Amino acid sequence: MIKLIATLCLLALFGLSNADIQANRLFKLLKSKSSTSSHDSNLWTVSEEATNEYSPVYIAPQDGLAELDKISSLPGQPEGVDFNQYTGYVTVNPNAGRALFYYFVESPTNSSTKPLVLWLNGGPGCSSMIGAMSELGPFRINSDGKTLFINDYAWSKVANMLFLESPAGVGFSYSNTTSDYDKSGDKNTAKDAYIFLVNWLERFPQYKTRDFYIAGESYAGHYVPQLAYTILLNNKKTNQTIINIKGIAIGNAVIDHDTFVKGKFDYWWSHAIISDATHAAIHKYCDIPSGSSSPMCDNITEKAWSEIGDIDVYNIYAPICLTPRERNTSTIPGSINSFDPCWQYILEFYLNDSTVQKALHAKPTSWDLCSDVITSWNDRAVTILPIIKYLIANGQRIWVFSGDIDAQVPITSSRYAINALNLPIETAWRPWYLNKEVGGYLEAYKGLLLITVRGAGHTVPSYQPQRALALFTSFLGGTLPPSS
Ligand SMILES: *[C@@H]1O[C@H](CO)[C@@H](O)[C@H](O)[C@H]1NC(C)=O
Ligand SMILES: *[C@@H]1O[C@H](CO)[C@@H](O)[C@H](O)[C@H]1NC(C)=O
Ligand SMILES: *[C@@H]1O[C@H](CO)[C@@H](O)[C@H](O)[C@H]1NC(C)=O
Ligand SMILES: *[C@@H]1O[C@H](CO)[C@@H](O)[C@H](O)[C@H]1NC(C)=O
Ligand SMILES: *[C@@H]1O[C@H](CO)[C@@H](O)[C@H](O)[C@H]1NC(C)=O
Ligand SMILES: *[C@@H]1O[C@H](CO)[C@@H](O)[C@H](O)[C@H]1NC(C)=O
Repeated sequence: MIKLIATLCLLALFGLSNADIQANRLFKLLKSKSSTSSHDSNLWTVSEEATNEYSPVYIAPQDGLAELDKISSLPGQPEGVDFNQYTGYVTVNPNAGRALFYYFVESPTNSSTKPLVLWLNGGPGCSSMIGAMSELGPFRINSDGKTLFINDYAWSKVANMLFLESPAGVGFSYSNTTSDYDKSGDKNTAKDAYIFLVNWLERFPQYKTRDFYIAGESYAGHYVPQLAYTILLNNKKTNQTIINIKGIAIGNAVIDHDTFVKGKFDYWWSHAIISDATHAAIHKYCDIPSGSSSPMCDNITEKAWSEIGDIDVYNIYAPICLTPRERNTSTIPGSINSFDPCWQYILEFYLNDSTVQKALHAKPTSWDLCSDVITSWNDRAVTILPIIKYLIANGQRIWVFSGDIDAQVPITSSRYAINALNLPIETAWRPWYLNKEVGGYLEAYKGLLLITVRGAGHTVPSYQPQRALALFTSFLGGTLPPSS
């Protein structure tokens, strides 16, 4: 009963509008005035050799700051917390007054030998605290929006996890030069994230030579490979392993525009949420490769959305967020195995609380899942596939994972994109198992693994925490999950 009332209050506070999450943002920002309606030019010229000169990045002394960033305890935190957690700001540009906010969780056991993993959520413009508090972090928030419970399948069990709110303007990350927000785009996001990492490693020097991985989901299908590329390039240019990057893992990731759009429409049809006629008309009227919109295409896309109806497109089989009255049931799903469909309001409620912000060492902020101040996205790579090829050529481990019930950035889009790479197959399509059940399917290509998580939506660890941790553990170990 208490939970029911609390949820009702949360919903009353935030209204029932469909809050922006991740991939949703993509379409909004791309449709906004300052974005072009057709393809943006691909500003990432990927070359095998680092030709241009290295320009040194800003590095500030960080002595003693780590201790100040240590969190004593978070409001609502349960008993039995056996790990160190830190939050704080790292200045990436002192002249502009631009600083990025991070949350760092050390592994409770053997943290000094476990790898360091950076996690990024997408958008563009959405907060990685989504991942930290609703997906794979050490805590999840109860449906009351005030208390936390331990996530038994936290990725920090097997790695030291660093969550970064990126770029400036997202979450607690900010710039004192607010015109910086109008310069947001793929390029500046990667640049600032790189400067963040170099300085963060000065603050936590024990991690400087540690094996390093980047993981993320959704529009982080851009952020993660672009940052990995930036790191490799700077390692080459300086002849130094400044950051010891070993690989990347991207989930339900936007990596290639044309195949993304085609894969989405095909998923809608093959999962019986749109009609044959609408699917055929989309293929007829939408010039998918050019990416340009036409009135006929807009019309038929609208029709598709109305055919889909009011479902959660990030998990087509999940309940939607309703008030208890609308829901007509006495139980509110809130445990780790039945992910609360109102999680967005719960997360916002928790992180917008002033005592929580104080405990997080964050400056007072109207915290939101996705940025309100970033209103345009200035450059966006049309395809990330050339960068993926570069990463493969440079020996990086690359895992592309996908929750198979997400209709927003679906598995079909990932498959079409990977097929476009034309990589030789090393391990043919097969199921992978956890606890005698099929956890998903995988296909290993030369240099890249495609792996699905059965029964997971867009935010994979939210819906399938145990499978997600098994997948992540295999990724770090560089082994395929078991075939039986
Ligand atoms: C931004 O401005 C505030 C107020 O002057 C200052 O305290 C803060 O240090 C500045 N941030 C950065 C990153 O320089
Ligand atoms: C920590 O590492 C040591 C040495 O490798 C190992 O013996 C021990 O089992 C590890 N502890 C845990 C909890 O993983
Ligand atoms: C890196 O090594 C190359 C070849 O040995 C050399 O030409 C270049 O100056 C070095 N760069 C730096 C930044 O030390
Ligand atoms: C699409 O076009 C048809 C025929 O012109 C029209 O009846 C319908 O209202 C349009 N639908 C939308 C969603 O604009
Ligand atoms: C719940 O649904 C049942 C069956 O449709 C209906 O009879 C009942 O009145 C509903 N209860 C509420 C509180 O809406
Ligand atoms: C956060 O809380 C402040 C007041 O405490 C409120 O003005 C603001 O609208 C809230 N922000 C969001 C995103 O709900």
